[in-house]
Amino acid sequence: MTAEPRLDATPNLDFDGTTPYEEYVRAWELSHLQEPLSDDPGEMAFLVTTQVMELWFTVIVHEWETAARALRGDDLPGAMAALKRSTYELQALNASWEPLAHLTPAQFNAFRSALGDASGFQSATYRRLEFLLGEKSASMLVPYEGAPHIHAELEKALHTPSLYDEVLRFLFRRGHGIPASVREREAAERHAADPAVEDVWQRIYAGDQHSDECRLGEALTEVAELVWRWRNDHLVATRRAMGAKVGTGGSPGVAWLEKRAAKSVFPELWTARSRV
Ligand code: HEM
Repeated sequence: MTAEPRLDATPNLDFDGTTPYEEYVRAWELSHLQEPLSDDPGEMAFLVTTQVMELWFTVIVHEWETAARALRGDDLPGAMAALKRSTYELQALNASWEPLAHLTPAQFNAFRSALGDASGFQSATYRRLEFLLGEKSASMLVPYEGAPHIHAELEKALHTPSLYDEVLRFLFRRGHGIPASVREREAAERHAADPAVEDVWQRIYAGDQHSDECRLGEALTEVAELVWRWRNDHLVATRRAMGAKVGTGGSPGVAWLEKRAAKSVFPELWTARSRV
């Protein structure tokens, strides 16, 4: 039973050792993880925004793994709840571009050289996120050959069926014509758009708009759109901050990011729409 509140009470002040808040949130550790490499006052926002995005990547990976597991167990409400949470988190992730979205080239240059060869391209958690979408690639593991703990985690993620794989297998168990070549494909391969999968989504979308399958399709469409927005906001922030210069990670920069942003997430969910 919850105790009745005493209106004259104040928050607890006495604790043995550290506070329960510290033990749970580890706020002191979090707020001492920032080690800017330049004297430029603008670098702190760049570093913290990057760390904040890493935390959101972590939560989103957790949600999509939860959704994939739920679908594997035919628990659609569990999967839908995790997907829904992930769309709120993706919106918060995307909103966190704001502190970096307006950098001029001179402002970015003021700390850019301090970054050395460091690039978001080397984000292992972002890679797991892409793998869950079906964007698998063994070559993306190469940067971690010198970091066995990260390599092992990514290798496991590479060989685990993606969220989209689990969606398509779920649809098959619900009686939809997902071909064996798609259901039993090698998990480490990138998902390639398949005409039979497009047919399935076309029939779902032409049918009852309140069906479980249509609601699942819409939840995934929401995810796909928000991921596309993240990629696009990243591209525009990069274009503003450094024009067409080479990236710190060694890529051609904006030209490379344009190709990445053009990749379709859950492709058949988009192409099927032309036929409904
Ligand atoms: C103004 C700020 C930023 C600029 C100018 C920028 C620039 C770039 C460039 C040029 C690349 C291509 C690889 C390379 O050559 O480095 C890249 C990749 C990437 N960046 Fe950023 N970036 C910025 C902020 C961020 C932030 C805050 C994050 C959050 C973690 C991030 C995450 C990534 C990721 C995940 C990739 C790889 C994308 C993929 O594999 O498709 N970037 N960035």
